[in-house]
Amino acid sequence: MLLPSLCALNMDGLLSPDLRIIGTARSELDDDGYRAFAREALEKHLPEERKPGIDALLPRLSYQALDANDTSHFTLLAEKVGPVGAGLAIFLSTAPSLFEPTIAGLTAARLVDGKVRIGLEKPLGSDLATSREINDAVAKAFSEDRIFRIDHYLGKETVQNLLALRFANLMFEPLWNAAHIDNIQITIAETVGLENRAGYYEGSGALRDMVQNHLLQLVALTAMEPPLSYEATAIRDEKVKVLRALRRIECDDVVTGQYRKGAIAGEGVPGYDEELGKDSDVETFVAIRAHVDNWRWQGVPFYLRTGKRLAERRTEIVVTFRQVPHSIFPKANARLQQNQLIIGIQPEENIQLSLMAKVPGLDRNGVRLRAVALDIETPEAFSGPTRRIAYERLLLDLLEGDQTLFVRRDEVEAQWGWIDAIRSCWADNHMKPKTYAAGTWGPSSAVALAERAGVTWHD
Ligand code: BG6
Repeated sequence: MLLPSLCALNMDGLLSPDLRIIGTARSELDDDGYRAFAREALEKHLPEERKPGIDALLPRLSYQALDANDTSHFTLLAEKVGPVGAGLAIFLSTAPSLFEPTIAGLTAARLVDGKVRIGLEKPLGSDLATSREINDAVAKAFSEDRIFRIDHYLGKETVQNLLALRFANLMFEPLWNAAHIDNIQITIAETVGLENRAGYYEGSGALRDMVQNHLLQLVALTAMEPPLSYEATAIRDEKVKVLRALRRIECDDVVTGQYRKGAIAGEGVPGYDEELGKDSDVETFVAIRAHVDNWRWQGVPFYLRTGKRLAERRTEIVVTFRQVPHSIFPKANARLQQNQLIIGIQPEENIQLSLMAKVPGLDRNGVRLRAVALDIETPEAFSGPTRRIAYERLLLDLLEGDQTLFVRRDEVEAQWGWIDAIRSCWADNHMKPKTYAAGTWGPSSAVALAERAGVTWHD
């Protein structure tokens, strides 16, 4: 994600001519070795139209081998970087245990001075306590306005479009509340499985891998009050209020699952336990009925779910409005369906509004109605602009110092606080994930979670 994004930005002339990119990890490589590694990765991961940009990116790259637990190695890195006065952005993608030593090393080598910014890739801890430790360690060297916590969902065009939809149109905001909305569903469904990440995923599970960050950020953007402006503090102030208003979850409000073998798009796939090579209690699916306890959302359930090896890859927000208070149409052939606004985030980017419409005819037996969709296919509406991957936007914002699409400390900590309560409820009740066949929409109890309240998941 990082090298392809930098390659695309470079190709489009968006990187300063002086920008140098220094990779660092434990592997013993020299500059040429790193460039060869980068070329191979870029050839593999870039779309065809971006490949001509590879040659121009490589001269910007260099490399310094470094063991984060050895402070002396940071001196070598500092020599490679040179004076930081001209500007430096550090991007840390490490195991949680390495944040502290890395910050200590960077500090000792004076790589944190002045206006140096730091981007932090998840996982930022595994619970509130460890997240605080990391945040404290980083705060010793960087003020909050220089810390850029990544949630790559915020870099997605369609996620940002949620703000445009809500706050650049008059018609939704007056209806965007408990008086007019019956329920909201947010789904992040994936078809991929473990993807060779067993070590990480076993220590995380779907709740911490997807709900703590991506799903809760979607909840915050969907539920927040109108911010004063499209500006970092204004937006983050409103998001954190939502995160703090999340009601503590009861165990009955959560279903977890783990996939067993099945088929996705006609292809057989192994179960999680088979991929892992042992039994495990780690959840690969979570469904939650959540509530935002504030004036606007009182009584509106937010159904959230995410899982691996589900029936299809689909991220969407579905807003179901309340039923009209009284139907003037004959009930027998005009069963009114509630209006739904469906915001497709990926793979399809679209916004659909389902409306009741009259079926054409002479209506000798009474008016007939049917739900029809008003559909905006975003890529078709905007054929000009290039579709960019989330990290292009986020890396450019990091280089330019715009924090709007990054997560503030209070947001991350509110997210962890809510997640920790769910995990302690699982532990107290010895909850184990239910199994589901790969290629389905998760365990049947997830369906029941919504249906108990007369709600159907939008599958
Ligand atoms: C990552 C998770 O944050 O997001 C992965 O660690 C997940 O497990 C990925 O697959 C999903 O991202 P996207 O952009 O493909 O929806």
